[in-house]
Amino acid sequence: MGNLTFTMIKPDAVRANNHAKILQHLVDAGFRIVALRMWCMSRNDAMRFYAVHKGKPFFEPLVEFMTSGPIIAAVLEKEDAVAELRKTVGATDPEKAEEGTVRRLYGASVRQNAIHASDSDENARIEWSIHFDEADIMV
Ligand code: CDP
Ligand code: MG
Repeated sequence: MGNLTFTMIKPDAVRANNHAKILQHLVDAGFRIVALRMWCMSRNDAMRFYAVHKGKPFFEPLVEFMTSGPIIAAVLEKEDAVAELRKTVGATDPEKAEEGTVRRLYGASVRQNAIHASDSDENARIEWSIHFDEADIMV
């Protein structure tokens, strides 16, 4: 298990002006922000990012949503970062997410659930490379 993971504050949470609160939530949970970028993904970027879900019924609406406005991408550092962030973020469906998790606090629906968290060290690296050059990661 590594000390780095990747997160992305999704367009719904940025539109709702909750991104600073969410970043602070992550810092309060013990993560250190080692790379940070606000930008708009192209359709192509979003399709690459969610390639594992290609063919599923929610793929197209998900790509549409993820390109509907700016996102905030970040690389986070903490011991056992991947598992720790998944815990902090909560279940995919905000209604099923534990009290106090980011999705429970800020998510609106299964799709518009405020935040992404990588599910493995390998995927974290693949995902952050869509958003950052290695030189942008301050470790
Ligand atoms: O993000 P997480 O790993 O918890 O869930 P996922 O199953 O890997 O799905 C990726 C993302 O697709 C979710 O976070 C939702 O934004 C979206 N999704 C959706 O739009 N409709 C679904 N039925 C399931 C997921
Ligand atoms: Mg996933």
